[in-house]
Amino acid sequence: MKERLEKLRDELLGELKGVAKESELLGIKKRYFGRKGPLASLIKELSKLPPSERRSAGEAINRVKKEIEEKIDALLSEYHQRAREERLKKERIDVTLPGRRLPRGTLHPITHVLSEVEDIFLSLGFEIAEGPEVELDHYNFTALNIPPEHPARDMQDTFYIDKEILLRTHTSPVQIRVMEKQSPPLRVIAPGAVYRRDSDLTHTPMFHQVEGFMVDKAVSFADLKGVLTYFLRNLFGEKTGIRFRPSFFPFTEPSAEVDIECVMCGGRGCRVCKESGWLEILGCGMIHPEVFRAVRYDPEEFTGFAFGLGIERITMLLYGIDDIRLFFENDIRFLSQF
Ligand code: DAH
Repeated sequence: MKERLEKLRDELLGELKGVAKESELLGIKKRYFGRKGPLASLIKELSKLPPSERRSAGEAINRVKKEIEEKIDALLSEYHQRAREERLKKERIDVTLPGRRLPRGTLHPITHVLSEVEDIFLSLGFEIAEGPEVELDHYNFTALNIPPEHPARDMQDTFYIDKEILLRTHTSPVQIRVMEKQSPPLRVIAPGAVYRRDSDLTHTPMFHQVEGFMVDKAVSFADLKGVLTYFLRNLFGEKTGIRFRPSFFPFTEPSAEVDIECVMCGGRGCRVCKESGWLEILGCGMIHPEVFRAVRYDPEEFTGFAFGLGIERITMLLYGIDDIRLFFENDIRFLSQF
């Protein structure tokens, strides 16, 4: 029995030398140590030995078994260690390489200019108000002194939802909504989207306006000129030439339009200003007494000015963009330039 045990031991150790893979090792372990393996049959034979030899033979089997098991375990952990090292080598990161830059979004040019306009008026103590884009005829027209037969109500211009509900055609209705809820003194700007049935190189069915107004005792046309001149020089540059031209709006009296010196040609005359040297930039005026009456303000006690401007137009002039549709095509190559 001793000899068979020695032989088995040598055989096993020999086999272990040639092993290259973990799976082979596990196979050997199973083969030799399994219930039907050579070690198990040796143990079974112990009972056939004379009692005096059983003890030492049993000990010898256990010794060999332990020796081989330890050897296998050592080999196994060696394999694990090696596999781990290889994995680490493969996954190694060179921390000195430059990082990969994450793509970063940009603000829409309209958003840029809108927040620039807002910042200027906020610095003058104006507050920001908002109104609904789906509006009542009353706020969009009637309360702004635009009677039912006025051409501004023409089906050509206005998107009607039904007889009384429409998409607001300008931000002026926010004047009414704010004045209904608050009393003077008021300094408010109201930015937002407006809608008109119009579409070409310079018009889109949806665009953005900023409305502004100031109401108090003794607000004058000089205040209007001062605030708007300050605003326009801040936006377009300190030296920008500015002129006020008489005009007409139903909700202001007197009314004016404001031009700035052409930003493209500096006033010499070009295609953009149609050779006039001037660009129309906003409408404004002193709030009409009828508008005050619509919100139950006493026009004898309060006066105010109002103005409205188009953000797309100003953005086109500031950045030299000649097609308004670029703003709404969502072409990343255009949008990421700002
Ligand atoms: N609501 C006018 C428009 O959309 C712009 C405007 C003109 C607004 C004069 C005003 C104003 O507040 O006083 O064409």
